[in-house]
Amino acid sequence: MVRSMELSDIPAVCEIEKQTGVCVWGVEGYREALSNEYVGLVYEKCGLVVGFIVAKFALEEVEILNLAVAPEWQRCGVGSQLVEACKELAKSKGVREIWLDVRKSNLKARSFYEKHGFSVVFERRRFYRNPDEDAVVMMCRIE
Ligand SMILES: CC(C)(COP(=O)(O)OP(=O)(O)OC[C@H]1O[C@@H](n2cnc3c(N)ncnc32)[C@H](O)[C@@H]1OP(=O)(O)O)[C@@H](O)C(=O)NCCC(=O)NCCS
Repeated sequence: MVRSMELSDIPAVCEIEKQTGVCVWGVEGYREALSNEYVGLVYEKCGLVVGFIVAKFALEEVEILNLAVAPEWQRCGVGSQLVEACKELAKSKGVREIWLDVRKSNLKARSFYEKHGFSVVFERRRFYRNPDEDAVVMMCRIE
């Protein structure tokens, strides 16, 4: 089940962050995000948070900032439900484009996003640190 992220979900979200090696926001980062214009969604399975997505909603576009699924729940459709829920929300708000950055070497995520209608628009040289790496910028147009 996909639902809005609540403050009480933050410890579980941080644990998934640690397990998956995504960009680390930490407790304060999510607290701040939830009190601003960001939207957080979690996927709950048997009372446990097993995946999450955080996106920044603006008038014209949405930017996916973080998305991760606990390793033992990957490849079960959880990420797909989270990204599709984000697309539905964007559609309901009349937003036409969803953007994101992903590490160039993260072929798993790139293939996941391609399956969901995203394509590469351009690259940002040495956008990431630890380790240094280019970012691939992907976009999905919402019909
Ligand atoms: C990327 C991620 C969110 C995908 O979530 P998920 O729940 O595993 O994805 P789904 O089960 O919904 O997969 C949907 C499709 O994505 C693609 N995909 C997912 N995992 C894949 C993998 N390991 N290799 C290749 N393609 C993959 C496939 O096309 C898959 O469809 P299929 O299973 O029918 O072949 C998850 O792997 C993850 O948390 N990765 C670590 C964190 C990360 O990289 N986040 C993105 C940062 S931008």
